[in-house]
Amino acid sequence: MDDQTDSIPVSGPDPARQRLHWHIVGGSARYTIRANWKLLVENSMDDYHLATVHQTYIEYMDRRLAAFGSSRAKLSGATRGLTFPGGHGGFLRSGPGRTTANSSPLWSEQAKQQVAALRQQLIERHGEDRGREMADRSRHLLIYPNLMFQDSPTGMRFRIIWPIAADTLDVLQTDLVPHDESPELRAYRHEGSRAFLGPGGLATPDDVEALEACQAGFAADPHAWSDLSRGMHRSPQSNDEIQMRSFWRQWRRLMMGRTGMSGAMDRGQKMHNGGSDATTQG
Ligand SMILES: [Fe+2]
Repeated sequence: MDDQTDSIPVSGPDPARQRLHWHIVGGSARYTIRANWKLLVENSMDDYHLATVHQTYIEYMDRRLAAFGSSRAKLSGATRGLTFPGGHGGFLRSGPGRTTANSSPLWSEQAKQQVAALRQQLIERHGEDRGREMADRSRHLLIYPNLMFQDSPTGMRFRIIWPIAADTLDVLQTDLVPHDESPELRAYRHEGSRAFLGPGGLATPDDVEALEACQAGFAADPHAWSDLSRGMHRSPQSNDEIQMRSFWRQWRRLMMGRTGMSGAMDRGQKMHNGGSDATTQG
């Protein structure tokens, strides 16, 4: 991919928004996992495996932060699991150090000032509440069935999950960064993403190992099934599994030869995506 040319303009009724462009970073990550593609969809939308599966990364970052006299920021504020008709879903939660407009303690003062200016721009354009939401909130969204959009503390990226065989998938991962930024800040963003994801990251090998172990386990028992009931009887939080249930409901619907979109919500569950209070069932 050409690192010099591609950018995505964000259009809208406000002319000021025309200045917002995203640069597609060159050098996309591409790798193979010996597991069914739907396992990586689940993995990409679950917000509770980080602390256990990626302990190596967490300890590495804790040591780096400690060397700068800092420490990991605590997660705060409400979280939300999201579902939408058609199997789309994801989650929202606070993202301390979210790199787009919330700098890392590891960065230089100059880089921090650039990010502070970007944060201020968001607040001026969109208001205090919306601007802070855009700067501080981490967003993970699945565009059904296989396109992930991750706007997280380790960067902003697209992830496309390609089925190769029943037990093999390919991943194509591409990072986005704000278009007009200094080489230093761009390097910080790249480093933050590469430390976590991709074949050389500290987290991707964990996920690959976990998914391949699950695949091997499923092969041992053709009647095995996954329990995705977490959070069925409460307002969906980011570390619940409503987004996975939505995905699987749409999948089942399509495999049954049905058309249209599935009811994404649990039975008796109210809509919490900012939509109506209509009660639906899968
Ligand atoms: Fe992971």
